[in-house]
This record gives sequence, structure tokens and C-alpha cells, in this order.
Amino acid sequence: MSIPHFHTLKIKDITKEMPDCVSVALDITPELKSSFQYQAGQYITFKKVIQDEEVRRSYSLCSSPLEDDFRVAIKQIKGGLFSTFANQDLKIGDEVEVMTPMGNFTSEVNATAKRNYLAFAAGSGITPMLSLIKTILWSEPQSTFTLIYGNQSIQTILFKEELEALKNRYMERFQIVHILSRERMETELNYGRINAEKCEQLSTHLIDFQQMDQFFICGPEEMILGVKDYLIQKGVDEHRIRFELFTNSSSTKARKAYQEAHQEESEKMCHVTIKVDDRSFDLQLAYGGDSILDAALKSGADLPFACKGGVCCTCRAKVVEGTVDMEVNYALEKDEVARGYVLTCQSHPTSDRVVIDFDVR
Ligand SMILES: Cc1cc2nc3c(=O)[nH]c(=O)nc-3n(C[C@H](O)[C@H](O)[C@H](O)COP(=O)(O)OP(=O)(O)OC[C@H]3O[C@@H](n4cnc5c(N)ncnc54)[C@H](O)[C@@H]3O)c2cc1C
Ligand code: FES
Repeated sequence: MSIPHFHTLKIKDITKEMPDCVSVALDITPELKSSFQYQAGQYITFKKVIQDEEVRRSYSLCSSPLEDDFRVAIKQIKGGLFSTFANQDLKIGDEVEVMTPMGNFTSEVNATAKRNYLAFAAGSGITPMLSLIKTILWSEPQSTFTLIYGNQSIQTILFKEELEALKNRYMERFQIVHILSRERMETELNYGRINAEKCEQLSTHLIDFQQMDQFFICGPEEMILGVKDYLIQKGVDEHRIRFELFTNSSSTKARKAYQEAHQEESEKMCHVTIKVDDRSFDLQLAYGGDSILDAALKSGADLPFACKGGVCCTCRAKVVEGTVDMEVNYALEKDEVARGYVLTCQSHPTSDRVVIDFDVR
């Protein structure tokens, strides 16, 4: 994995998937093919100045690396800066700044594997799942995939036709269970929200969770945490559960709480060295002050970042000397943290000398 960089790409296609959602395909020129190679489940990040503000927003690729298509789907959020721009103003032929693909919400595909995958998605959380479903069905002929997909109603099911076509083509290996929160279907099982209670119903009537090898969850925070806790409580090894969170609703609160908790240490200073693109530079940073990423950006560094909320992993780097504390981490796996990787947008020094290396991916 090399350090992510932005490139200028042309919009190749825009398809209105639903009244409030477009899918956007990008033209990857032959010379950029290797930089934009990706694994199913990864995301890209757009950079755009909107209303005099530079915004960076990440979108999971919904295409499969096995297709000749490089596509994301962007659901319009009420009042949302980038999603409104993408749904209303973006045109075929426009040029956009796009960062190379990143992310841990992936699975190593293996043609001889015989695995059972179980995925939980709600709303636009289907995007990385669609990429995973296609890739796994196409490249692991002995594996099965079960998708539990939550939406408000049949009308709001994103990629309904594409999923149905996959279901018809791979009847023996691909199963979809729709859960609708505002429309009743044939059984009680299909009505409601995806949460621990729904998981219990599914496990009693339809799905043998113990037979599943890998679990993917993508949707609102409440759903992710509910399903994850349920699975762990039922004895599923945490290492087999991957989740992708699109927004951290409490990032401002978490920053404030961290700064308040470390108020007494605000006089303590750390000498931070940042290594990036084979260069290094130094800065002084208070223990409970800015995050390491923010401090470095303020001093003029060009570092990779996107959400600044601990949910993507664009700002990932390795602590090679000293110690740091993270406010939140929704993106790094436990073993990455054990190997010294941190989300720099969430990191604060806890020793008087810290060296952070962005080049060790
Ligand atoms: C790894 C990753 C992958 C993602 N993949 C996708 C994807 O495939 N498709 C997709 O549509 N989005 C995806 N997102 C979310 C996306 O990056 C943006 O957060 C989203 O489009 C909103 O951006 P905005 O600029 O329109 O809204 P903003 O201007 O950032 O936000 C406006 C308001 O809406 C709230 N808000 C922001 N996001 C949401 C949300 N998802 N639901 C409800 N309220 C929200 C904000 O708190 C704020 O109050 C992903 C995010 C991450 C981190
Ligand atoms: S920028 Fe997304 S986790 Fe730091």
C-alpha cells in the first residue's frame, strides 16, 4: 500500500440510480491504472472547493475490480455539501480531484476458498457490499454470500435490479433478505430494522450464524454497533467481523471531551517529527491540543486525510518512536494498532518525543 495521492480524473458516466442517488463512473487512463487498482470494499476520496470551503468526501466503490468500470454511488444528504453538488451539478466530462483507493473493508479472495459470507447493509451502505458480492461470487465458485439489506421501502432499495439479477444468476450461492422499516412484506421477519432483535429472529428462523465464516456490516452507527455486539455475544470471533462507518456523528463531542480530560496536561509539550514522501519536518505540540494531523496541516504539511472523524483510514501512519493516544478509532483493525499504526486525525502525543511515519504503509 503506497501513500495515497490525488489525481485529476474525468467523469465518464453519471447514472440516476434513484431520485436522490447518482452513480458516477470515472475514466481511469492507462497511465493511472496501476495507481487506481483496488480491492472490493475499498473507497476513494474526492476533493472539491464548495462555497469557498475545501471539502473531502469518501465514497465506496460499488463496481468490482473484475469489471471494466470504476464507479461510486452518491446518495444526496439533505443540506450535504458534496452529495448535493454530485447529484445536481456534476456532469459527464467534468474533471474532479480523486485520491487513490484506500480501506480495510475488504476480503482476500481465493479461488479455492469455500466460505460463507454474511453481510448486513442499510441504505447507501450497500455500495461496498455490491462490490464484495460481485467479486466473491465471480471469483470463489464454492463460496456463498447472504445479504441482509435494510431499507425504508421497496422503492428506496438501491441497486435492486442488479442484486436481483445476481440472485437469479447465482441462486444456489447468493441469498438476499430484505428488511423494510416502512413497508410490510410477506413475513414479520422482513419488517423492521436491522438490530440485535432482528438478528435473533433471523438466527432462529432463517440463517445459521455459526456456519458463517466472515461478516461485513455497513450502515448507520447504531446498526453497526448493535449487530457487532450481537455477533460477539453469540461467540463470533471479532477478527471475522469487518465494519464500515460512513459518518461519526459524535466527532466534535469526542474532541471536546478529550481536550477537557487532558486540560491539566495542556502545558506539556511534545516534539513531533513527521516523515512523509521521504522528507521529514518537526513541530511542537501540546499534549491535549490539536490532533497530530491538524497540527501538521496548520504548519503547512501536505498529508493524506479525508473524514477527520476516525471513520476512514486515509490519515493512517505509523508511530515509530514515542506514544500517542487516539480519541476514537472506527477504522483500524486491532492488529494494525498493535503494530503501531494510528489515525493521525485522532492522535495526541503522550510522550515528550514522537516520530510519525506516513511512508510505512
Ligand atoms: C469510508 C467511507 C465510505 C463512504 N461511502 C459512501 C458511499 O458509498 N455512498 C454515500 O452516499 N456516502 C458514502 N460515505 C459518506 C460520504 O463520505 C459523505 O459523508 C456524505 O456523502 C455526506 O457528505 P456531504 O458533503 O453531502 O454532507 P456534509 O456537508 O458533510 O453534511 C451535512 C449534514 O449531514 C450529516 N450527514 C453526513 N453524512 C450523513 C449520512 N451518511 N447520513 C445522514 N446524515 C449525514 C452531517 O452530520 C451534517 O449535519 C462514505 C463515508 C466514508 C467515511
Ligand atoms: S481522516 Fe478519516 S480517519 Fe483520519
